[in-house]
Amino acid sequence: MTKIAPSILSANFATLADEIKDVEADSDYIHVDVMDGHFVPNITIGPLIVDAIRPVTDLPLDVHLMIENPEHYVSAFAEAGADIISVHQEACPHLHRVVQQIKAEGVKAGVVINPATPVSQIEPILGDVDLVLVMTVNPGFGGQSFIDSTLSKIESLKELKDKHLYHYEIEVDGGVKAETAKKCVDAGAEVLVAGSAIFNQDNRSDAIKNIKSSLK
Ligand code: DX5
Ligand code: ZN
Repeated sequence: MTKIAPSILSANFATLADEIKDVEADSDYIHVDVMDGHFVPNITIGPLIVDAIRPVTDLPLDVHLMIENPEHYVSAFAEAGADIISVHQEACPHLHRVVQQIKAEGVKAGVVINPATPVSQIEPILGDVDLVLVMTVNPGFGGQSFIDSTLSKIESLKELKDKHLYHYEIEVDGGVKAETAKKCVDAGAEVLVAGSAIFNQDNRSDAIKNIKSSLK
């Protein structure tokens, strides 16, 4: 069963608790986009917001760090209540060390690759991670168009997972909606992050059902 992870980046931050409650019943994770204005050209939220939404939902908080030096903030996000912390390969010269640091916090560890980063860059770490996030847009903003050339990387990750019996989940993020979700799942994606396709719609439940029914 494909998992759905609504990205609160496109939610109304003035009523964030209600926004999360609105999607909770139809979702598997809540995806939290952390941006620092350096690694990506946008600034969003920090550990304080993760701490504030932690009591709002029992769903796992899937924290996507789009920041430089993520190792400085791993324990703050873990203490705030993150269940999964993912870091970008492009931001981590010592990726193995950061992944171990995340796991030592008792949190699931994910690694993320941008559209221009090949799977080969993360191959040595694939046996250590709980999640691999394939960016299907360039990170920084919601509402961008899906980049088709990322699909072959999802296929490679699925092949490597099956061949080596790795346990990571394959997640995709960016431009995911009813029109693009099925090609991701057909390529091997197991978790779909969607921001604007859910939170820019009046009826979020219908929006999620629409994505799920597109997979049939
Ligand atoms: C983009 C973020 C995404 C974003 C996706 O940098 O990582 O999680 O919210 O937004 P949509 O689904 O609108 O492309
Ligand atoms: Zn994200």
